[in-house]
Amino acid sequence: PRKIIIDTDPGQDDAVAILLALACPEALEVLGITAVAGNVPLALTARNARIVCELADKPEVPVFAGCDRPLARALVTAEHVHGKTGLDGPVLPEPTMPLQDQHAVDFLIETLRREPTGTVTLCPLGPLTNIATAFAKAPDIIPRVAEIVLMGGAYFEVGNITPAAEFNIYVDPEAAKAVFGAGAPLVVMPLDVTHKALTTAPHIAGFRAMGTRVGEMVAAWTDFFERFDKEKYGSEGAPLHDPCVIAWLLAPELFTGRHINVEIEVDSPLTRGMTVADWWGVTDRAANALFIGDVDAEGFFALLTDRIARL
Ligand code: BDR
Ligand code: CA
Repeated sequence: PRKIIIDTDPGQDDAVAILLALACPEALEVLGITAVAGNVPLALTARNARIVCELADKPEVPVFAGCDRPLARALVTAEHVHGKTGLDGPVLPEPTMPLQDQHAVDFLIETLRREPTGTVTLCPLGPLTNIATAFAKAPDIIPRVAEIVLMGGAYFEVGNITPAAEFNIYVDPEAAKAVFGAGAPLVVMPLDVTHKALTTAPHIAGFRAMGTRVGEMVAAWTDFFERFDKEKYGSEGAPLHDPCVIAWLLAPELFTGRHINVEIEVDSPLTRGMTVADWWGVTDRAANALFIGDVDAEGFFALLTDRIARL
């Protein structure tokens, strides 16, 4: 199995991504989960990550708390989407599994130094603060990273937190700039693709029809998560952003994209956090990312439902 570290700010869609990864031990070995401040403050994301591990009956997965604020800015959160706890919807028990003592950044550094070069894949599902901090503190780990597969950014679909920026990149643009410029192989799941992975009524019914506790919880989370997109945008369902990252690791043939140059705007107050993606190759800047543009949505949901049903 491929070794991964999930860096996350759960978040209902983060929760589904974590469940998908934990459901596939034959393909993915989750070395640890590192929590970061994002959708809600760090104390809640670290709590929510443990709730999800316990729901999956995997309390042995180590969960680490990381950075509680962006590198250079005040934290912006998204309770308007995810609710006060970040995981609003079903009521779940407080976690009893421990939070690790080690800081998430030190866990990232130690793990990348310990494991053979090119064997650990990073899966960031929130603001990139933990990853950028680890890279700044220990640049020797950068060439040891197999690949970074992250959810963030937008091109045609532009922004969801400002007219120009996607939430994860907007919250910590300096961290995003550092990660996009680090030189590690990068796969990006922007809003352009995640907005195609919509939880329609039949998809949610599919989760419920599993007849498992996990299926019931996923249905309840996606029910809650949908309300925002339905009410605000009149869309058919909610985009399952973060599970696209894990789905790509399991079935890359479901996705298509282009190797292009992507730069992060950090200065302009108007477009801060924008992913300036050279989709048409109009500059001579070197490609630094595989920027995904499309997904076979039915294939994605078939994979997701099949794997989540195992838990
Ligand atoms: C991203 O922002 C968060 O609200 C979601 O969990 C996802 O990672 C989408 O813009
Ligand atoms: Ca997230």
